[in-house]
Amino acid sequence: MSSKATVFQQHARGIAGVRPAGEAALCRRCAEDPFVLSLVPENPPWDVPHRLLASVQFLILGGEAADYRVEPDPWSAFLDILHAHEDRVVDFVRRGPIQTNEVQRCFALLPLFLTVARTTGRPLDLLELGVSGGLNLFWDRYRYRYREGTWGDRDAGLALTGEEAAPVPGALLTEEVRVVRRRGIDLEPVDAAADAGFRLLASFFGADARRVDRLTRAVSAMGDERPELLRGYYLDLLPGLLADAATLSS
Ligand SMILES: C[S@@+](CC[C@H](N)C(=O)[O-])C[C@H]1O[C@@H](n2cnc3c(N)ncnc32)[C@H](O)[C@@H]1O
Repeated sequence: MSSKATVFQQHARGIAGVRPAGEAALCRRCAEDPFVLSLVPENPPWDVPHRLLASVQFLILGGEAADYRVEPDPWSAFLDILHAHEDRVVDFVRRGPIQTNEVQRCFALLPLFLTVARTTGRPLDLLELGVSGGLNLFWDRYRYRYREGTWGDRDAGLALTGEEAAPVPGALLTEEVRVVRRRGIDLEPVDAAADAGFRLLASFFGADARRVDRLTRAVSAMGDERPELLRGYYLDLLPGLLADAATLSS
């Protein structure tokens, strides 16, 4: 089996039971289809299937293609989209980074932020590496439900729950935090509040309505505020930004 086919097979195994039904089967068929495999580069990175599916979803969200999932023969409809938009698909697959700005990650991050706040007793100056649209920089605007308690505004538009391997201590959830700055670095930052940016981010969530809903609520939680998104390679920019952070806190 070619390495191109292998990444699709591996992706199918990785998403089984996690992503909406049908997506893993679609990836298995992609692994066997010469036309689909012709669209991806030789020795493709692991995320190529993710990009290919996102490229099709991007066209669907923009009204440029019909949703193949609701067609009588979804596989044929999927292939038709790839044929009709071959150049766009190839460009999307080969060029852009994957843009999964997933605020569910804040469910795991919050206890760490609270621990830093408690330990230092100082406000937080946030700097995210690989920030995408910056939605995780607004973690303090969301509501969280853990086994031993809750944190955040009870009227927040986005509430996060999840599994805890060990319970987050209830005492930690009494901690109050002040965020003084929200910055991030990305090779290709995304304006999540703009139509084009939202469409790009949503395209990576495919038909997963729960993830798209989280995305919508997270964008709304920003209100009129925007994170400071810096374009660049994070190892190049980080030293200067850390020096700036030291100035802020001194
Ligand atoms: C999978 S997204 C994750 C976005 C966000 N951190 C989250 O958890 O929701 C990874 C992001 O990292 C960015 N990225 C990857 N390597 C980078 C680098 N060396 N310098 C800056 N950004 C990078 C990509 O452009 C992409 O937006």
